[in-house]
Amino acid sequence: EKGGYDHFMIKEIHEQPHTIQDCLRGRLDPAAGTITMAGVENHLQQLINAPRIIMVACGTSWHAGLVAEYVFEELCRIPVEVEYASEFRYRNPIIHKGDVIIAISQSGETADTLVAIDRAKEQGATIFGIVNAVGSSIARLSHAGAYTHAGPEIGVASTKAFTAQLAVLTMMALKVAAAKGTIDVKRYQHLCAELAAIPEKVALVLQKAADVKKIAARYKDARDFLYLGRGYNFPVALEGALKLKEISYIHAEGYPAAEMKHGPIALVDDQLPVVFVATKDSYHEKIVSNIQEIKARKGIVLAITSESDEVIPAMADDVFAVPEADEIVAPMLSVIPLQLLSYYVGVAKGFDVDKPRNLAKSVTVE
Ligand code: M6R
Repeated sequence: EKGGYDHFMIKEIHEQPHTIQDCLRGRLDPAAGTITMAGVENHLQQLINAPRIIMVACGTSWHAGLVAEYVFEELCRIPVEVEYASEFRYRNPIIHKGDVIIAISQSGETADTLVAIDRAKEQGATIFGIVNAVGSSIARLSHAGAYTHAGPEIGVASTKAFTAQLAVLTMMALKVAAAKGTIDVKRYQHLCAELAAIPEKVALVLQKAADVKKIAARYKDARDFLYLGRGYNFPVALEGALKLKEISYIHAEGYPAAEMKHGPIALVDDQLPVVFVATKDSYHEKIVSNIQEIKARKGIVLAITSESDEVIPAMADDVFAVPEADEIVAPMLSVIPLQLLSYYVGVAKGFDVDKPRNLAKSVTVE
């Protein structure tokens, strides 16, 4: 059942070229420039006219919501808020007429997310569910939705569900932007092609999994890790840190790279690995200066870069390069080495990576 792999987690990481393809199949046609999503089409006016979109989720799904915040704001020019379901539900949130709630959940059974959308529904919000488990409670409670089609995810660490969530959210944003007229034809077509190319590029990243294994062997005894990113890669930094915490039991924190100077930089010394998620994008120059700041304090830098980058490899202690991609779709590539890193560190330390201590696959308690 593990298809020849040692663990479900690594099997699911390696499934991603196929699961992302399954998610795009029948929806995205880059040649025709069409995106077919019945749930979005049926609620297109609500989405186009939404004064605000609120993403509600927990854990890794919340990180997908953070990436989507940047994508929706950029492409659709709709204000987006991303809420931890557990905080949103308890604080009597303000929901305006017309607001659209996008609930993101792999299991579709997360208690906090479920109750949060139930409350929002009572207040008249439209609920759009992005769910992996077909027929699950969140799918049933939503007014409309789109399945991620990643197949059953058994490992407690969410991997293939995350990249599928990003694929669905990106298609959704592109579709809304096209209908709303907030994206020009050229950029729309370019992004459709970039999205369609992701499965192939993920496969190329996975071919180099052995390189991450070697890196993991060098870093596995670190006591703490920092993960830094900017823009679309900031949520990827958070996701990398979460993966390391839950699978390897190493303390890790994710931060927007520019926040370092407001506190966390005090932690940096020659024992601290700092993982930079720094693929080539509009923030590149800025993140290069952030790397300089860490190197000046003798921090150990492991950088996830784009293949054509010649600047960061000259500064970093270790580098893992991923294929070039538009910044909007880049998180689906830059997260892969971070999933692998947490897996290989966890295995090297002898932990049960599929069932980390204290964790359950679906959190059905509040
Ligand atoms: O099933 P959901 O997507 O609603 O689950 C949300 C979180 O519990 C989940 O993403 C959790 O953080 C994972 N263990 C992360 O790998």
